[in-house]
Amino acid sequence: MRLTTRRFLQAAGLFAAGVLLAACGKKEAPPAPTPAAAAPASAAAAPAKVYVVGTDAAYAPFESQNEKGEIVGFDVDVVKAAAAKAGIEVKFVNTPWEGIFNALGQGDRDMVVSAVTITEERKQTMDFSTPYFDAVQLIAVKADSKIAKFEDLKKLKVGVQTGTTGDEAVTKLLGKTSTSIKRFESTPLALKELESGGVDAVVADNGVVINYVANNAGSKFKTVADKSFAPEQYGVAIKKGNADLLAKVNKGLADIKADGSYDKIFTQYFGAPPPVAATAPAAAASK
Ligand code: ARG
Repeated sequence: MRLTTRRFLQAAGLFAAGVLLAACGKKEAPPAPTPAAAAPASAAAAPAKVYVVGTDAAYAPFESQNEKGEIVGFDVDVVKAAAAKAGIEVKFVNTPWEGIFNALGQGDRDMVVSAVTITEERKQTMDFSTPYFDAVQLIAVKADSKIAKFEDLKKLKVGVQTGTTGDEAVTKLLGKTSTSIKRFESTPLALKELESGGVDAVVADNGVVINYVANNAGSKFKTVADKSFAPEQYGVAIKKGNADLLAKVNKGLADIKADGSYDKIFTQYFGAPPPVAATAPAAAASK
């Protein structure tokens, strides 16, 4: 596979994915109010709150661990930039996907930023920021596979990451009681199983599948898109009712969209700027 990730992403049309934050203009964000320089010593001594962000860092290019064990990726850069605009401090903590929303509910994490798709079901138990990324499910198969569409998976073994929207889509197609769905705790594990032949296909978020295929040429995979997959949008998940933090995150996201830093980060990871936010009004309407 000679394609670079960047060209692969372009070829795969990831850029059909829109960005749904309020559209832009060259507006400079107002400087964050500086705390009075001459604040009394007692006030200055209070340490700033550091918001703990849970993420399942096995999901490149959105979140992964580098050689130094640092959590890096598109989500990390977006949320750190938004947090800086909002005047809050964040710290990413690697958190297994299974249980990640429980950790949020119990207050062990203040936010979950993990390529989380905003769904009606999840909205019952958590709040979401404005969407910051468009995604869709994509099928990974062996390069010589005859699988051409999602329906073709009906009689086959399919790997998914437990509790993801990919799991949901496959469960719907194969049935709740199907024994042909192989659930894994991470998406890379599901893709490893595809390589060893334990499953015939893996269904996961497009960005992650594309990135994996481009960076693991030895696996000899190809991707299969299907229009029947519903469009998805990633949001920052916040404990239900934490309106203060939600407002801060939304302000930060709006600011980085307005000043071009969101587009810069997007381009850095996906090789081209996001398309014009043609879908923004629809996103607002789907609330
Ligand atoms: N977008 C999908 C979902 O919300 C998958 C996200 C998985 N994220 C991760 N870091 N493992 O269900």
